[in-house]
Amino acid sequence: MQSTAIAHANIALIKYWGKRDKALNLPATGSLSLTLDGLNTTTSVDFDSALEADRILLNSETPDRQAASRISAFLDLVYRYFHSSGDQRPFASVTSGNNFPTAAGLASSASGFAALAVAAAHALNANANPEQLSMLARRGSGSAARSIYGGIVEMAHGQRADGLDCIASQLHKPDYWNLNVLIAVTDAGSKKVSSTDGMQLTMETSPYYQAWVAGAEADLASARQAIAARDFEALASVTEFSTLKMHASALAAQPGVIYWNAATLAAVHCIRELRSDGLPVCFTMDAGPQVKAICTADVADQVSEKLQQAPGVVRIISCSLGDGARLQPS
Ligand code: DP6
Repeated sequence: MQSTAIAHANIALIKYWGKRDKALNLPATGSLSLTLDGLNTTTSVDFDSALEADRILLNSETPDRQAASRISAFLDLVYRYFHSSGDQRPFASVTSGNNFPTAAGLASSASGFAALAVAAAHALNANANPEQLSMLARRGSGSAARSIYGGIVEMAHGQRADGLDCIASQLHKPDYWNLNVLIAVTDAGSKKVSSTDGMQLTMETSPYYQAWVAGAEADLASARQAIAARDFEALASVTEFSTLKMHASALAAQPGVIYWNAATLAAVHCIRELRSDGLPVCFTMDAGPQVKAICTADVADQVSEKLQQAPGVVRIISCSLGDGARLQPS
């Protein structure tokens, strides 16, 4: 049976950066994110016993071996989860497309593995609940666990060694707070160091890594509280604190992981200026050079216009909060 699912990317305000278990892909810290309506991955999965190998197309192209084997391994995992009998998984045809630049720090692995988890589980006739889908998506990519849900989402650090409590949950629905995320694209090329590799190097070599992990629970508590009070200023403060600490820990790795370019910093300064002029806006950056401005919807046009003028900003992608991953009619 062919199943098709759509999932949105998400942007973490409180970042995930580092793992407590590599094999199970368990994060070293909890994280908190906004699911974005503008960035989608649509994925179809068709298990077909007539196939002699997995047939995978990403954005109409055959992916490199590493990306293809990550997807095949994920399908193995989903199959094993729902078929404890140990029989051989049928090969699958997987077609997936993003409506935004892949692997440029725009969280394509988050929407990608969330859509793949939903489509693959349904194609196997499994009646999976969101907790199971979040747990499975996490095995594909940590941030994907959050894209199962819409709105404002928290990913639990979890206590169990087997990771069964390491799942995301929705804190608030998309309409809880009219926030926009404006993505200032400064370079649409593929990122040089993947988030998986960047966080691994940070864990292994950065003297700041322990401090980064130690502060995460307090940051999560501050963010939860700011969101509960719809206190933008408090949310802005902890959001920038989290992203700058994440990048500081990566910068201090050996060799240092530098995701920013000149335009990244120009956009950051532009956002800081807008905030000091009184606009409710703050920034966050992930494992790439793009800058994401978070603001209340009423000032989004003003922020977008200014950000567009920051030197080196190529374009702005504007998003509001979106829904969780779901099946689509094929
Ligand atoms: C900087 O989820 O891509 O975007 O679990 O190794 O696939 P893996 O990592 P990934 O890391 C995301 C890192 C981040 C911050 C975040 O989204 O929380």
